[in-house]
Amino acid sequence: MKTALVTGGAKGIGEAIAKALANDHGMQLVLWGRDEHALMKACNTLAANGASASYAVVDMGDMASIQTGLDELATQEIAIDVLVNNAGILTDEPLLQMEDTDIVAHIAINALGPLRLIRALAPSMTKRGYGRIVNVSSGWGSFDEGLGPGAYGISKALLNAITVKTAAELPPYVAVNAACPGWVRTQMGGPGANRSVEEGANTPVWLATLEESAPTGQFFRNRKPIKW
Ligand SMILES: NC(=O)c1ccc[n+]([C@@H]2O[C@H](COP(=O)([O-])OP(=O)(O)OC[C@H]3O[C@@H](n4cnc5c(N)ncnc54)[C@H](OP(=O)(O)O)[C@@H]3O)[C@@H](O)[C@H]2O)c1
Repeated sequence: MKTALVTGGAKGIGEAIAKALANDHGMQLVLWGRDEHALMKACNTLAANGASASYAVVDMGDMASIQTGLDELATQEIAIDVLVNNAGILTDEPLLQMEDTDIVAHIAINALGPLRLIRALAPSMTKRGYGRIVNVSSGWGSFDEGLGPGAYGISKALLNAITVKTAAELPPYVAVNAACPGWVRTQMGGPGANRSVEEGANTPVWLATLEESAPTGQFFRNRKPIKW
């Protein structure tokens, strides 16, 4: 049985990704997030459907908190086969008007936290001969699409760059890709978005479950490559 770690897995697109990996692909799930109540509830829902699920309270913007989460995985001897870097924050203030702390938070949560997890978990995937890493990015991180607002745009562009560079350093059987979920009805996307969370989860789940000859180092939307 494969084990997946989904950050921000207790709500929004992350919860839909976790549900699909558990219910449709029989994976064991580890959910990370900051909201313990939401994490517990999401794990109970997964367990009620027969899945094995656990959680840890981890702040993806805090390297010490990430290390505590990693230590917990090691203590419980949980090896991660599939990493979905989904947690993210968005404010749409212009870069020149943002507080420095908000800029740093976007880059830490949306890009450096995910990189820390890739650096921590990919070596064991390489040793075990299999790994799937999905960075939930955004068209707003694409130069080709003009980049999105403020620190969000630059943090997702950095996540895209991290995708390219880590994929190039890893063997092809540890596939690292970025996915844009589209505009999705979540706390971040708002009620007017045109996609459900299940629709938003579709491409990330597809990338997380590709078997042989998976692409690596690419950016996808609607299961099709898009430009960086
Ligand atoms: N919705 C869209 O239209 C859209 C479009 C393009 C890309 N995306 C991307 O899709 C991903 C999921 O977004 P969403 O729409 O599902 O947003 P959401 O409903 O706001 O959920 C965000 C998730 O990230 C977690 N999170 C935020 N900060 C965190 C931190 N410091 N540490 C740990 N977890 C943290 C939250 O968990 P806690 O509440 O527990 O902190 C929550 O589970 C994000 O990376 C986002 O950039 C979304």
